[in-house]
Amino acid sequence: MEKEGNILIVDDEFGPRESLRMILKPLYNILTADNGQKALEIIKSSPVDLVTMDLKMQGPQGIDVLREIKKFNSDIEVIIVTGYASLKSAIEGIRYGAFDYIQKPFNVAEILSTINKSMERKKLYSQLKVFLKEIGKLVGLETEVAEIRDKFSDNSGFIDAARLVFNKIAEKNSANKNQINYLEFARLLANTLENRDPYSYDHSGRVNYYTNLIAQKLSMPKKDIADLQVATLLHDIGKIGISNTFIFKEGNLTEIELSIVKKHPEIGALIVEPLQISPLIMSVIRHHHEWYDGNGYPDGLIGEEIPYCARIVAIADAYDAMSSDRPYRKAMSLKDIKDEFSKNAGVQFDPEMVKIFIEILENKNNIIPNKSLIAGEPKFAVG
Ligand SMILES: [Fe+2]
Repeated sequence: MEKEGNILIVDDEFGPRESLRMILKPLYNILTADNGQKALEIIKSSPVDLVTMDLKMQGPQGIDVLREIKKFNSDIEVIIVTGYASLKSAIEGIRYGAFDYIQKPFNVAEILSTINKSMERKKLYSQLKVFLKEIGKLVGLETEVAEIRDKFSDNSGFIDAARLVFNKIAEKNSANKNQINYLEFARLLANTLENRDPYSYDHSGRVNYYTNLIAQKLSMPKKDIADLQVATLLHDIGKIGISNTFIFKEGNLTEIELSIVKKHPEIGALIVEPLQISPLIMSVIRHHHEWYDGNGYPDGLIGEEIPYCARIVAIADAYDAMSSDRPYRKAMSLKDIKDEFSKNAGVQFDPEMVKIFIEILENKNNIIPNKSLIAGEPKFAVG
């Protein structure tokens, strides 16, 4: 089995160092050091994703070692290992950028869960950095973006960084008087977002396709259909700052987790705001989770208060969710999906639009195979 990353265990006591090594060895590549000096040497010479460290060691003060590690590479996650007596310094460590602390004697489940969460955060941040880099390249602002990118170190920092980048793009755009190719731009954003896991792979592409079919049936103007295309690719852009653990978590989310996930339409609108894209696109990003009966989010709009295009995207979005595999369930059948839409006409969805969409689904030629990467080969998720 491929190991999930490289962990450096720093502890001057042999016992705890070895027991931690035994716990983590099956999942990660393990390096060990018995003092802070050695730890810093290892970090500078080999790739390390995460460090577990006892702050009370011989030699340089643990907290100084922690600061050195973060100075050398802020992407390295640090988890503090502590005895009850040194809880106060563990909390201080968190102030200096440590992810969390674990207490001695070790509880295996707790250690694994803390390390797992920390690795997940690290993965998310490096994807966010790649995302910003790609955007910088696309608009010819590589150096400026690199500077902004290196400054952020948490989620809200990312939103600020993304806004700064988009501000620069908007400035450049108005100076050059040439319009950004928003479709290309949106496609890049969507790809970056969806490539991070197989469950959402090409989600926006499919939402785009079904939205387009509905828009054609509704005889919308060409200009609006073009905007809708960009809007579908960007609709979930706010999820870029939210960990996959929440988005694809099996079963019920805790209240806090749910409130984070529900923030994605607002975050999305905030991120792209500096670009001053068309109001139609903004309305889809912000309102695609509103419900026709007013029970949706973020604004609880009712019926025709919900922007027209957001109502269309809500249907295409729900169709794609139902016809795709999820970690905790298989894709639904076409019949079940149609039943679900009928049941929710006037509740979650615009009833007139549901009628049109069910007509679209009656024609099997309209249904695209849902390529599931999980199954390893293309398959028809509906029918
Ligand atoms: Fe969404």
